[in-house]
Amino acid sequence: MLKGKVAVVSGAARGLGKSFTHILLENGAQVAMLDVDEAEGQELQVQLNQQFGSERTQFYKADVASELQFTDVFQKIVSKFGHIDIFCNNAGIVDEKNWEKTVSINLSGVVRGTYLALDHMKKQNGGNGGIIINVASLAGLGPLPSAPVYTATKFGVVGFTRALSMASQASGYGVRINALCPSFVRTSLIDSFDQKEKTGNFHNLAAITHSLMDKFPIIEVEQVAKAFLHLVKDECVDGAALLVKSTGAEYVIFPKDMETTPISI
Ligand SMILES: NC(=O)c1ccc[n+]([C@@H]2O[C@H](COP(=O)([O-])OP(=O)(O)OC[C@H]3O[C@@H](n4cnc5c(N)ncnc54)[C@H](O)[C@@H]3O)[C@@H](O)[C@H]2O)c1
Repeated sequence: MLKGKVAVVSGAARGLGKSFTHILLENGAQVAMLDVDEAEGQELQVQLNQQFGSERTQFYKADVASELQFTDVFQKIVSKFGHIDIFCNNAGIVDEKNWEKTVSINLSGVVRGTYLALDHMKKQNGGNGGIIINVASLAGLGPLPSAPVYTATKFGVVGFTRALSMASQASGYGVRINALCPSFVRTSLIDSFDQKEKTGNFHNLAAITHSLMDKFPIIEVEQVAKAFLHLVKDECVDGAALLVKSTGAEYVIFPKDMETTPISI
């Protein structure tokens, strides 16, 4: 049970973020939901108030690409809930045309959110420690040719998570940091892979994405939420990347040292 725990989820208004919010509430936590989509976020809050009671959730409008908005929302969350135990960097987009925006949200937003969360969570600052879960992707483990910048941001999230987890252990932050790597999930995001305004110059490669979907069949948000909950609860896991696919969840095995193939020049 997560009774007494306070969680913050970005991109919580729909899709995976909504399912993470739901499973956290079912397990007793309080959840601060953060999203740019105010209408959808407020509507979700009304539904959750009816289901779980009005003191369990609070929606905050904020863009994770904005330092000012993100910082302001964290202050409001800490003022209301007193502390943060669980933080999930989930907000993300696919937009190869406006690729700088993709980097700002998917990678800079994760770094920004993690540092803000650590300010409140790490033991050196009087925090209780806790867990940070960064939502990467299957595309953070292997390339998605129709979305090279999306791929780059997700590889970045996996690398950032692994390095920061080691930094946290070495410095005694008391915060576990893990990456969740879902394969294709049935949310509005996967429609982006068929939209020319999102895939831009790589629109001609949609068939490659579809053949990857044949190899990694689309899964439901509830399956990913169960894997998310496992990462929240298993206190032995730190610095891991958990791949979630139709056949189940698997920890990714990374090479211990750089493995290379020598050549003669
Ligand atoms: N759906 C998939 O196939 C899949 C697979 C692997 C990883 N992911 C990752 O899961 C995460 C959630 O994606 P999803 O599939 O639920 O997508 P989604 O589009 O259904 O939901 C994304 C949510 O993030 C919010 N958001 C977008 N930009 C934001 C910003 N700048 N600031 C705050 N909130 C913002 C949206 O309003 C929306 O509520 C993303 O990081 C995505 O890359 C998705």
